Amino acid sequence: MLNKYFYLNTIGCQMNVYDSEQIAARLAALGYQQTGSLEIADLVIVNTCTIRAKAEQKAFSFLGRLARLKIKKPGLIIGVGGCVAQQEGDKILRRVPYIDLVFGTQAIDRLPLLIRKIENKRCRIVDVALTEKPRQPDALPDRRLDGSVSTFVTIMRGCDNFCTYCVVPHVRGREISRHPDRILEEIRGLVQSGVKEVTLLGQNVNSYGKKEGLCSFAELLSRVNSIEGLLRIRFTTSHPKDFGNDLINAFKTNEKVCDHIHLPIQSGSDRILKRMNRKYTKALYLDKITKLRDTCPGIAITSDFIVGFPGETEADFNRTMDLIKLVQFDGLFAFVYSDRPKAPAVQFKNKILEEEKRERLQILLKLQENFTRMKNQALVGSVQPILVEGISKKQSSGSFNRSQPIVQWTGRTSTNKIVNFYHNDTPQSDADIFAGKMVRTKIEKAYAHSLWGKPVGAKSATGGLKGEESYAA
Ligand code: 5AD
Ligand code: SF4
Repeated sequence: MLNKYFYLNTIGCQMNVYDSEQIAARLAALGYQQTGSLEIADLVIVNTCTIRAKAEQKAFSFLGRLARLKIKKPGLIIGVGGCVAQQEGDKILRRVPYIDLVFGTQAIDRLPLLIRKIENKRCRIVDVALTEKPRQPDALPDRRLDGSVSTFVTIMRGCDNFCTYCVVPHVRGREISRHPDRILEEIRGLVQSGVKEVTLLGQNVNSYGKKEGLCSFAELLSRVNSIEGLLRIRFTTSHPKDFGNDLINAFKTNEKVCDHIHLPIQSGSDRILKRMNRKYTKALYLDKITKLRDTCPGIAITSDFIVGFPGETEADFNRTMDLIKLVQFDGLFAFVYSDRPKAPAVQFKNKILEEEKRERLQILLKLQENFTRMKNQALVGSVQPILVEGISKKQSSGSFNRSQPIVQWTGRTSTNKIVNFYHNDTPQSDADIFAGKMVRTKIEKAYAHSLWGKPVGAKSATGGLKGEESYAA
């Protein structure tokens, strides 16, 4: 049988990256090999995102580019999956006439069947069923990775929060948590294949297991913490309304849980938070921040903001700016509000002009830049344990007058800051061995988005997993 190839384009969040891995595994089981070349592909899948209009446009512009390919190769199968597929359903078939398959966020398990049907009958299929109680979502039991130090593990899917701007509950369905035993099994397997760090993924990890009566998220963290060979645990995303004291304490009691929390607030105005249906106030958020910093003084805090939500006045926006000044985040993501067809805010009056939204975004980002720089600068002189992820760059040997190229390594602090450094003793050929190691690094320089360090002392395999040590020269 001739080799068959699939090309997979993933747009959007980490959840989509994880789903794409699941898609790839299922296509491999069907006999397809992955390729990075569209020209030789027999099957093209695009896993789409619709969180903001721009992400959706990206999917359609990619599909547009496939028109010529399909004319050249009429046997080519083109499938659209993920959130745009879920949102638009059969409308996609009408809008893009050469699409063969539209599969929704709960159809990944059925993908092999759908592809076989298309291969045999050359029919067009739409499978976007979204059930209230989907089958327990699960990864393939033998998930293994080649050479990755860090990876994502989905612990739950869907969302029950219905923030008024957000499309996620409408395209990913109701929240459902995986059984802790399955999650632990998956992580143990990953550790066996060399993974040292996992990021537990869910739209609202703080409500993990509540609906199903499984263990709490804090309990899950403590179970994951006990996995031998795993060095670091991260998680995202947290929702302030469900962020309890047990989770705050989990940073202290579990040595592998990294000193970083991503806690989206979205706005500093209570009036806007209410219209967003976020179910907390600015005061409650600030209380959580105080408790977090009291319990875990070195913790890095990042957040998400939406500017220009319908009805956001200058005064509301200034409240957001005041909050940013008060909290002094380590970093943040900010987005201009984008109308999503299925989200209730699309009906809200007093929409903010595009130009005004962009201006507010620039003002906000400019303010934050100072804090990000200040937080990075504060680390200069300290020694940080870095988990090495791999080679970031090779310097040409010429300018350094060396026979061996100098290898620049990259890793992260427990607080999720990127640190680049040279490690002269480690030749490039040992990349596989060095990646995944903990290296104590003295921070020498701070930049806007990364740090520059120098390894000090012995590298330790497990010791000093997090926290900052003062440097004695
Ligand atoms: N417009 C702009 N930003 C949005 N987000 C979610 N929905 C929208 C929208 N309609 C942002 C939120 C969320 C992040 C993942 O994306 O800040 O936390
Ligand atoms: Fe969207 Fe809100 Fe759910 Fe996050 S918590 S996915 S913002 S509805």
